Amino acid sequence: MANYKRTLITSALPYANGPVHIGHLAGVYVPADIYARYLRMKGEEVAYIGGSDEHGVPITLKAKNEGVTPQDIVDKYHGIIKDAFSRFGISFDVYSRTSSKTHHETASEFFKKLHADGKFIEKTSEQYFDEEANQWLADRYITGICPKCNNEKAYGDQCEGCGSSLNATDLINPKSVLSGNVPIMKETKHWYLPLDQYEPWLKEWILEGHKEWKSNVYGQCKSWIDGGLHPRAVTRDLDWGVPVPVDGGEGKVLYVWFDAPIGYISATKEMTPDWEKWWKDEDTRMLHFIGKDNIVFHCIIFPAMLKAEGSYNLPENVPANEFLNLEGDKISTSRNWAVWLHEYLDEFPGKEDVLKYVLTANAPETKDNDFTWKDFQARNNNELVAVFGNFVNRALVLTQKYYGGKVPATGELLDIDKETLAQITSLKANIEKSLDTFRFREALKTTMDMARLGNKYLADMEPWKVIKTDEERVKTIMNTCLQITANLTIVFAPFLPFTCDKLRGFLNMEKLDWSELGCTDLLVEGHQTNKPELLFEKIDDKTIEAHVNKLLETKKTNEMAEAVAAPIKENCTFDDFQKMDIRVGTIIEAKKVAKTKKLLKLLVDTGIDQRTVVSGIAEFYKPEDIIGQQVSVLVNLLPRTLKGIESQGMILMAEDADGTLKFVAPVNEVKNGSEIR
Ligand code: MF3
Ligand code: ZN
Repeated sequence: MANYKRTLITSALPYANGPVHIGHLAGVYVPADIYARYLRMKGEEVAYIGGSDEHGVPITLKAKNEGVTPQDIVDKYHGIIKDAFSRFGISFDVYSRTSSKTHHETASEFFKKLHADGKFIEKTSEQYFDEEANQWLADRYITGICPKCNNEKAYGDQCEGCGSSLNATDLINPKSVLSGNVPIMKETKHWYLPLDQYEPWLKEWILEGHKEWKSNVYGQCKSWIDGGLHPRAVTRDLDWGVPVPVDGGEGKVLYVWFDAPIGYISATKEMTPDWEKWWKDEDTRMLHFIGKDNIVFHCIIFPAMLKAEGSYNLPENVPANEFLNLEGDKISTSRNWAVWLHEYLDEFPGKEDVLKYVLTANAPETKDNDFTWKDFQARNNNELVAVFGNFVNRALVLTQKYYGGKVPATGELLDIDKETLAQITSLKANIEKSLDTFRFREALKTTMDMARLGNKYLADMEPWKVIKTDEERVKTIMNTCLQITANLTIVFAPFLPFTCDKLRGFLNMEKLDWSELGCTDLLVEGHQTNKPELLFEKIDDKTIEAHVNKLLETKKTNEMAEAVAAPIKENCTFDDFQKMDIRVGTIIEAKKVAKTKKLLKLLVDTGIDQRTVVSGIAEFYKPEDIIGQQVSVLVNLLPRTLKGIESQGMILMAEDADGTLKFVAPVNEVKNGSEIR
């Protein structure tokens, strides 16, 4: 779409049932924000739309679990999310929510129009119903045994044991989450959008018309379309959501994925009474920033809804990203495996841009990527501090030192100066090409190259040496460095807005447009700059270790919670048990067994004798710490030789969920040799 006049940017509405984490940011909000800032700096007309997605079954389940109303849940998280976005500097022109009156009206009208125009089909089907609770059961309200892996706690839509997606009717022994009863099947009527009817049009519009979409997006669309499209229910039997506004709709609501994208329209209405031009003028271009799990909704279902309605624009592009993992594992809200934005903002005050930088440099644009705290530290220390920060700091400090902060006049430019300045223009062209095609990590890399260019120029020119012999030359060098610095305030602004504000403060400079990028006279001779502070600071190992340890704790907690006790062994007789002679003893000597990691050689006083026992506990106990420890010993175990040492018995240990071993000993001290039975 070459001749658009304005751009409507949307980013997926986050579910208001948890805070926002780095995965959301890297996939959706950071790239959308960069793009919005870039267009604004180019003087384009932009609206960047956001809001909270406040309907859906998981919100009602969370409310039920916490004994509060769904509205309480969404009020809480909408507040947390909105506040965190604003502190982080995501530059929404409006941040709305789907429980608002405007949204309910907008979604309701939209449904009514499609209904009146005969765009839906009505179908009756059988669904699970809980008679005791007198309630229909959404997939998440039913648990049962997974037919694929026998996990006993599979949900009606998915088994978290094996990851398969399921239908509620697949579950073996289904149970209602509400009452624990076996649900019954009952007929219910719903409205369906006949996606199959849109198949030829979707083929034409996407597969022929949008070959320029990112290959991950295009590929997913193609496989959906090629797989055949079917009518999709757009209503649900639920009491939380936008009520179905037509006859027969009592007790039913619009499906969350029907109302949520309409939230983009409602939010635009809240932004301006002149909202229609953003949705209906043909010279408006619409872009959806989303994660890969949202592709089908934004590329197929929502466009089919818009097409059915008839008066709205379709998206021009949907630059969806893949997923960001955290330290090698999938980010998960329920398992608390995430770096939460609101926590980051509290823990790293003033470092909003560092996170933006790292998430962009490592953005999951073409494949899933991994966030690690080590990489976070390395990018901060080696790139932001050592390149960008170092360059501008030296440029500004030397200007203070040599000229009291005033920009010196430039003399005749040498080739090296001209070449350096010319490179700004060629880097600019590359950055634009990357940004225009939504390749943000490439754009940021080239942007950092501009700082690198300055850093190298300054290091090569060595003004601190030249100053001793040629003061005129130093003026030209420093002028060149300051012009590069001024250019950096422009080029970094879409990516690192807080940093650029700060840097412009040091330079005592107004905010400039993108069009001025590449100019080599942004600062005039005699312009007074301010005393600089450091733009970035190093992040030390201790800070990083603390964050890594916090994650290790989470991992441990999860493993403990998820570990299921081992199944009970086959029955044995009392006689079987009686065969074992287990006594209380005390460890009187302990040594590591050479060349092993796990073994300790113990001398144990069993009350009858003192004997050697080799035990695999070296990872859990230090020899010096266990002298005097009472333990349980199987004393009639056939002796065995381990690493050349004869072991006469076995120390009994309890194994924790994470594999740690702990002694089993009498609660109060007893005489050595006491029998355990
Ligand atoms: N809440 C959805 C998610 O987090 C995204 C909704 S996007 C919208 O996956 F289009 F529906 F608004
Ligand atoms: Zn399973």
